[in-house]
Amino acid sequence: MEIERIQLQQHGDAAGMLVALEEERNVPFVIRRVYYIFGTKDAVHRGRHAHRYLHQLAVAVRGSVTFLLDDGSGPVEVVLDNPSQGLLLGRMVWRELYDFSEDCVLMVLADQLYDRSDYITDYDDFLREVAGSVYPEDMAACLGR
Ligand code: TYD
Repeated sequence: MEIERIQLQQHGDAAGMLVALEEERNVPFVIRRVYYIFGTKDAVHRGRHAHRYLHQLAVAVRGSVTFLLDDGSGPVEVVLDNPSQGLLLGRMVWRELYDFSEDCVLMVLADQLYDRSDYITDYDDFLREVAGSVYPEDMAACLGR
């Protein structure tokens, strides 16, 4: 699958660094939710789900984490370890997160509020849904998703 990374402009000066995230500018969607993951225990795997509609942008603002991403065409590993790099997570992408560094703070921006019914938590269900996806991008847009 194609991995979409966004290089975020760093504003560096004598004081240090600053990165700004702006909706529909360097973040390619309307930001309706921000959450962050930290204090992840050793050897933990998170995620293990896909979203039917949600789009997200993940930034490791501190430390590092590995993503396994799969759009149905097979798994790809992506390491996030740079606070000026964003990883776009489109809809219908299976994700697993692991190898969190002890200091990892992973910030995620999302275009929808938290909605458990948007989750697909069984990998075989995901493969079935993605194979016969009845919600192509244009239909999702019509539905305002
Ligand atoms: P979950 O999405 O299962 O995390 P992960 O897939 O990374 O393991 O969420 C963990 C818990 O946090 C779960 O109880 C739901 C809650 N949660 C919210 O309340 N709001 C949110 O925006 C998110 C992402 C999770």
